[in-house]
Amino acid sequence: MKFFIDSADIGEIREALAMGMCDGVTTNPSLVAKTGKTFQTVIDEIVHTVPGPVSLEVTTNSYDEMLAQSEELASYGDNVVVKLPLTRPGLRACKALSEKSIATNVTLCFSPNQALLAAKAGATYISPFVGRLDDISSEGMAVVEDIVQIYNNYDMETQVLVASVRHPQHLVEAARLGAHVATLPLKVLDQMFNHPLTDSGLERFMADWEKVPTS
Ligand code: G3P
Repeated sequence: MKFFIDSADIGEIREALAMGMCDGVTTNPSLVAKTGKTFQTVIDEIVHTVPGPVSLEVTTNSYDEMLAQSEELASYGDNVVVKLPLTRPGLRACKALSEKSIATNVTLCFSPNQALLAAKAGATYISPFVGRLDDISSEGMAVVEDIVQIYNNYDMETQVLVASVRHPQHLVEAARLGAHVATLPLKVLDQMFNHPLTDSGLERFMADWEKVPTS
């Protein structure tokens, strides 16, 4: 399973890279806005730092504008993945980009039907937003389960990228279902390391080590 970091903050991304836990990065307009930097600065910082795929999102819902933006985004590096919304123009653009072998990440997916459409349009990744579904009392992981099963039924190549991850249990469930990728906020990656029994166990080992005679 691949771990992407869901952030446009180069400091966070470097931290995850140093831990060996960053196989790629996903960004979106909200994450870019949070940095307070220009999009160009964010692109320059991330695309050349991260060896793996970096999703950069278009900021329009017009097909022609999407194509123009996508060409520009793709020109920033071989690792750029163009992130497109799951709309009619978005999937039309996805089809056009897949015919040119430009990698795509179809975002804002909330149903298995939408995921099926994205796979038919040749998406490299589909991003179901599990946290936002949970927010409205829907079951985000049930959608992931359906998508994984549907893609497996037809040997579809689109990779399931679980997004809008809010807590470590989302990771456990995504991994159990066989999702190819999860994109994590750094906070969730940090939480995954934690277990109180690890802390108390280490404390006891350290204390006992002090009791071992040195001669
Ligand atoms: O990459 C987009 C997605 O992960 C958004 O997450 O927490 O804003 O629903 P969230």
